[in-house]
Amino acid sequence: MGESQSRHLLGIAGLERPAIQALLDRAAAMQRRPPEKLLAGRRVLVLFYEPSTRTRTSFEVAARRLGAETVSVTASASSIEKGESLLDTVYTLRAMAVDAIIMRHGESGAPFLVARHVDVPVINAGDGMHEHPTQALLDAFTILRHKGRIAGLNVAIVGDILHSRVARSNLWLLSRFGARVRLCGPPSLLPAEFAALGAGIECHHQLEPALDGADVVMVLRIQMERMREAFFPSEAEYVHYYSVTAERLRLARPDAIVMHPGPMIRGVEIGAEVADSPQSVIREQVENGVLIRMAVLEQLLAPAEAAEKSA
Ligand code: NCD
Repeated sequence: MGESQSRHLLGIAGLERPAIQALLDRAAAMQRRPPEKLLAGRRVLVLFYEPSTRTRTSFEVAARRLGAETVSVTASASSIEKGESLLDTVYTLRAMAVDAIIMRHGESGAPFLVARHVDVPVINAGDGMHEHPTQALLDAFTILRHKGRIAGLNVAIVGDILHSRVARSNLWLLSRFGARVRLCGPPSLLPAEFAALGAGIECHHQLEPALDGADVVMVLRIQMERMREAFFPSEAEYVHYYSVTAERLRLARPDAIVMHPGPMIRGVEIGAEVADSPQSVIREQVENGVLIRMAVLEQLLAPAEAAEKSA
C-alpha cells in the first residue's frame, strides 16, 4: 500500500488485498458488536459536489455512530456555486478544524488533488467516472454475506459500464479476489478496451450469455448526466435488449443475488419484480454501507485505538 493510500481512501486500484480484507473483517466485527465511539470529539467534513441521497446519508450516519460530528456542504448551498476553486474551498473548510474530508466530485481525480494538499485523510465518495471505493467494499461485503466467498464466482455487471465509477471499483476489487467478471452493455457503453483490463474479465454485448449461470447480477443505472451525446437509439430499445427482467433472471443460477447501487430506475435497467424479488439484496447493500463506512472512518482516524479495543 502506497503512503498516500494508507492515509486516505481514494480508490480500490491502489489498495492491496490485505488492506481490503482488513476493512471487510472489521465491518463484519462491527455487525456482531457495535463499535465504541472512538471518534468522539472529531469533526468530519462531508463535501458533495454532486447529488446524493444514500452515500451522503450513509457516511453521516457512520461518522455519528462512531461519535464524530459531521459538517455537510453541498454544491447548491455554498460558494462552490459562486465559482470558488476546489482547493480554495477545501482550504477554507480545513481551517474549521476538520479531521477528515469525505468528498464526491464530478471530475475524475478531484479527491486525489485534494489529498495532495491537505494534512487530513480524504475519502473518495465517488469521483466522476473513475472510482467509488466504499461502494465496491460494501458490495464485496454483501456478496460475502450471501456466498461466503468471492473467488470463482461469476459476477455479471450490466448496464452503463463506461460512465460507472461503481463498475470500475467493483471490477478492480472482484477480479483481485478471483471472481470472473462479465461486463455487459451496448457497445457504446462498453468499449472493447475493458476486456483488456485483466484476466477473468469478459465483455458481452448481449445480456443472455452474461447472465447464464451467474452467481451475482449487479445492475447499473444509465448515467444520463455524464452523456453529452446519445449512446443508444432510445430508452425503449435499451429496455428491449438490456433490462434485467424476471424472465431473463432465470438464466442466472437459481440462488443468484441481484444488486444495484441505487438510485434505480424501475422498468428501465431493472424490472420492478426483480428489484422486489427475494433474490434482491438491494436494501441490504444500503445497510451494509454504514458498516463499511464505519470501518473506513475508524481505520483512517483511529487505527491505534481500534486495534487496542479489538485486542
Ligand atoms: C452510484 C454513484 O453515484 O456512482 N450511486 C451510489 O453512490 N449509490 C451510482 C449511480 O449514481 O447510478
